[in-house]
Amino acid sequence: RQARDLPWRRASDPYRVWLSEIMLQQTRVEAALGYYERFLREFPTVGDLARADDDRALKLWEGLGYYSRARNLLKAAREIAFERAGRFPETAAEWARLPGVGRYTAGAIASIAFGERAAAVDGNIKRVLARLFAIASDVERADTLERLWSLAGALVPPRQPGDFNQALMDLGARICLPRRPRCAECPAAALCEARRRGIEENLPAKRPRK
Ligand code: ADE
Repeated sequence: RQARDLPWRRASDPYRVWLSEIMLQQTRVEAALGYYERFLREFPTVGDLARADDDRALKLWEGLGYYSRARNLLKAAREIAFERAGRFPETAAEWARLPGVGRYTAGAIASIAFGERAAAVDGNIKRVLARLFAIASDVERADTLERLWSLAGALVPPRQPGDFNQALMDLGARICLPRRPRCAECPAAALCEARRRGIEENLPAKRPRK
């Protein structure tokens, strides 16, 4: 009910969902919005992007940073348009084979655009889960990460998995904040083990800085 009204949520077009997820890697929603609209105006379909002039596409990316994202986006667009005859992958496993699509992005796209019951654990969701389950070990350690992915996988419901994942993202972006979580407004407060123990501000635990 409290979902943010974001342009890529208005239609479940895989091209739009994919483009938004690539732009949102390392970039905040507010910073990506303008780029997203300009990019789509110029390249409204994956075919248009596949035929794009590289310099023009990179120019439209200018300011977003991490240009390898734009280069991989072009490579993947050409793979989809020319080698897959315009057919998008549908499962997270297939998405993860495209350049620039990691485990998180693959799960996000497959759940949002195709309704696959796939988990998508990004930085915000790591924090939300570390608190809900009071996980005190370093969330960047490989074994902790596996545990978070496994918990996330068990939580994703068979119906509207994309909405569920995006609800966790919104919870992390607006309520379960890194420094001062707004537990009084949190719909999951009663389920939260960190809150129950009063340790929500100490989680997630990070490796000490050198
Ligand atoms: N961050 C990454 N993907 C997102 C999405 N689909 N909605 C909100 N925040 C996001």
